[in-house]
Amino acid sequence: MTEFTFHNPVRLFFGAGAFDRLGEHAADWGERALLVTGRSAARKTGLLDRAVSLLDDAGLTVALFDRIMPNPTAAVVDEGAALAREQDCDVVVAVGGGSAMDAAKAIACCAADDFPAADFLRVEGKRQPSADTLPLVCATTTSGTSSELTPFAVITVEEWTQKSAIRSDYIYAQVAIVDPEVTVTCPAAVTAAVGVDVLAHAIEGYFSTAASPITDACSERAIELVARNLPRAVRDCDDLEARDAMARANVFAGYTLSNAGASALHALEHPISAYHPEIAHGAGLAAMLVTYAEHYYDHDPWRFGRIAKLMGRGVQGAPTEQSAEFAADAIQALLSQVGLDIRLADLGVERDEIETIVDDAMRYMGAAVSKTPGDLTRDDLIALLEASFSRD
Ligand SMILES: [Fe+2]
Repeated sequence: MTEFTFHNPVRLFFGAGAFDRLGEHAADWGERALLVTGRSAARKTGLLDRAVSLLDDAGLTVALFDRIMPNPTAAVVDEGAALAREQDCDVVVAVGGGSAMDAAKAIACCAADDFPAADFLRVEGKRQPSADTLPLVCATTTSGTSSELTPFAVITVEEWTQKSAIRSDYIYAQVAIVDPEVTVTCPAAVTAAVGVDVLAHAIEGYFSTAASPITDACSERAIELVARNLPRAVRDCDDLEARDAMARANVFAGYTLSNAGASALHALEHPISAYHPEIAHGAGLAAMLVTYAEHYYDHDPWRFGRIAKLMGRGVQGAPTEQSAEFAADAIQALLSQVGLDIRLADLGVERDEIETIVDDAMRYMGAAVSKTPGDLTRDDLIALLEASFSRD
């Protein structure tokens, strides 16, 4: 008989115009907001000014922390937490993509408990976030990492070259705002990379040992929406219909990620972008996705067959299993349409880094590795990276 659990406590507000209620939602949770955002995007698009006036109009005092970089570091989290304490903030508001939201979630727990972010990321003796974690309102500007819906904050500790996640129910946002209109300012290259992240969350979660009927349904819907709409959103950033569909895909994949978790690809990508912080998370995943599908389709032909069908490459009128071998082609075609049919060598990763990447994946991302079906060994992960290295 079927048995599973599913949990997601985030109050989600989805729709064009949802961002206009940012102040109102933040005011439900506090009076002094730390507004966390990246270094330039939200300022350039005018969204930052809009956020400040919405918070202001709702009667909140705003302290701005606009220093978040891609692949945010423990050091920047510590700076933000110090500002939150100094300004006596009682709610953290994130406006941005995954980096801003992950940093905001880590700031919310570090500010409350006054410990450095690195303490929450240690392999041994790690500190856990507490119930005192400041409440969070996350408004995403990308579709996306789904950080607004997950209990994860991915942070890089530079001194150990470690990129891994704080994972706690206490860092779920109280409120997530997903407004597809806000995502139209996301540039094409970023749209492509974060869209591939959505696809990876859906696919990895679909094969996760923690998958459930609910996450399966979410994964399937996300895969279908990404296949149909990501190329459109990348081709024409102002295509609101495609933006709306990608925002929905991001929400579905977020429910998958928050419950089924990620697996081997995320485990391997984190050390890759820890050593190469200039590599976008989605690009690192794109470099391995096709190989993953090529190597593992016979582990679960029915599910790979479903992926091929959902992406429009299935064999009509044949049993689902017979489409399995076309999943890799379907993924490659999609990546090619969005300019991300790449391999690790294209991203500047060196072949002699492979063993270190795999060892770090097993050390820092062991939980994700263990969610991959087939009990992948160190040698399996090395083989996956080697095959993802270049097309030859
Ligand atoms: Fe991701």
